[in-house]
Amino acid sequence: MTNHESLTRRDFMNGVGMGTAALLAGLPQAEAAPAMQSASDTFEPDVALELIALPRSVSLRPGRATSLWSYQSRVLKGDPASVQALPDSYLGPILRLRRGQKVRIDFINRLDQPSTVHWHGLHVPDTMDGHPRFAIGPGELYRYEFEVRNRAGTYWYHPHPHGHTGEQVYFGLAGLLLVSDEEEQALPLPRGQYDLPIVIQDRSFDDGNQLRYLSGTGPTARGDASGAPSAPGNTMGGRGMMGGMMSRGAMMSGGMGDMMTRMMGFLGDTILVNGRPESLIEVATHPYRLRILNGSNSRIYKLAWQDGRPLTVIGTDGGLLERPVHKDYVMLAPAERVELWADFSKDDLGTQLTMMSLAFEGAMGRMMDMMGGSFMGGAMGGSSLAAGVRFPIFTVKVARKANGSLELPDRLSAISWPRLQDAVNRAKPRTFRITMAQMQWGFNGRSFEMTAVAPNEVVKLRTTEVWEFANDSGMMTMAHAIHVHDQQFQVPERRHGMGNNRVRDGYVDQGWKDTVLVMPGDRVKLLMRFADYPGLYLYHCHMLEHEDLGLMRNYRIEA
Ligand code: C2O
Ligand code: CU
Repeated sequence: MTNHESLTRRDFMNGVGMGTAALLAGLPQAEAAPAMQSASDTFEPDVALELIALPRSVSLRPGRATSLWSYQSRVLKGDPASVQALPDSYLGPILRLRRGQKVRIDFINRLDQPSTVHWHGLHVPDTMDGHPRFAIGPGELYRYEFEVRNRAGTYWYHPHPHGHTGEQVYFGLAGLLLVSDEEEQALPLPRGQYDLPIVIQDRSFDDGNQLRYLSGTGPTARGDASGAPSAPGNTMGGRGMMGGMMSRGAMMSGGMGDMMTRMMGFLGDTILVNGRPESLIEVATHPYRLRILNGSNSRIYKLAWQDGRPLTVIGTDGGLLERPVHKDYVMLAPAERVELWADFSKDDLGTQLTMMSLAFEGAMGRMMDMMGGSFMGGAMGGSSLAAGVRFPIFTVKVARKANGSLELPDRLSAISWPRLQDAVNRAKPRTFRITMAQMQWGFNGRSFEMTAVAPNEVVKLRTTEVWEFANDSGMMTMAHAIHVHDQQFQVPERRHGMGNNRVRDGYVDQGWKDTVLVMPGDRVKLLMRFADYPGLYLYHCHMLEHEDLGLMRNYRIEA
């Protein structure tokens, strides 16, 4: 049953040859491998897990099962509750960790393409962060080891290989990683059955129940060189937008529809919650903690209860807020999390309440909005659910009486914030402008390079800085979701672009963030401190097609 047996000695050496320090120790075949000195010699894990990415089929709709990729995990050492599988879902199991725990995760790649695992939102050494330079091939293993230093909160994990992150996440590779700590444990928050993860993703199915994405992608696309997704750069034959679209490379990798999807981002027409198409969640008359993750590749949600009751926000990407905040709606870009206190204790049995995504403009940029959703839908592989239209996401049905209740605490957390005046570059923030040239996205005109770092991408360890992201790419300006690895940051300032009035009350900038929605014309400042670990980390757009199309760069933290 163990997958270790089939890992060959050659696999080990390949892995070691990739220059990673802390991988591949401790397996049966490993004794003789010379490069086994590593962090592992001194790292004594409290929890050790195995995490396998593998093809799987799951029955999601009546008829044929859907071919997917999925994470499977089991506990090798430590608390058996560290891994909670989600039956009938393609989503990876929920990993439950505690602050201060030392964690070892042996990742085994059973896909037919390279992969890595990124622990989204966690503060870990750069060799443990899932950077694409550490991608392992089919049959190989990467040993991740880190101490959980983050606050209690809702984090997640997903692949991060070069050019294929969108594909691998879309076909099923993602899971929640929940961290708890003492401060959170001491609070009277809903627990157990009242603590509900809600992962929202959009997908498109073909008539045979298989997922539709860019041509030649996914678990059923095998070995067909012309159909395989080429590296983003290879499809960029032309000059400028039309030239690029019409170039032979673009046509070969799936034609104009694929090219548009890569540039604009994938939008599915079916909303899945927790990896299932059913959208009814039965609840009791009790307060709930809803941990909502936007796990979609590129879709932005404008969350609101259908009956107009406000959303009570208690947490963001990096954990609990200082105090609850009430919002009419919350904008949730890909990879962002929001935690809600949802109290159904005064609702009658049988009450149904739907979480909507409300209408808004600007996701596709002003020009595209004017051209109309149907045009964009058509160009993007037939999605009939355009960006920014109104649709239901899930419905809760109050189905039973609960014993006892809880009061919403009025203080949730004590936070010591970095201060703007402590930033070494407060007078002159580092500016990153989102650009589009030669059919590739970039920051300040630079697209992703595996290890390169530009002069404005080097920072000093143990300093605090302000970074400003400016969303102005001319005609191609559209919404982006900026994510910085290794950090939880503050959003001290947001200058709103024109026409963003229907989204601007939906930002929860009071909390720790690792991903931030930057609407067309916006300029958003991030305040962060580079602590503990020097090294090479990523920053990028978390609309995964944008990321795969170059909207990603390294930054280096220098000791
Ligand atoms: Cu969740 Cu670099 O990603
Ligand atoms: Cu983007």
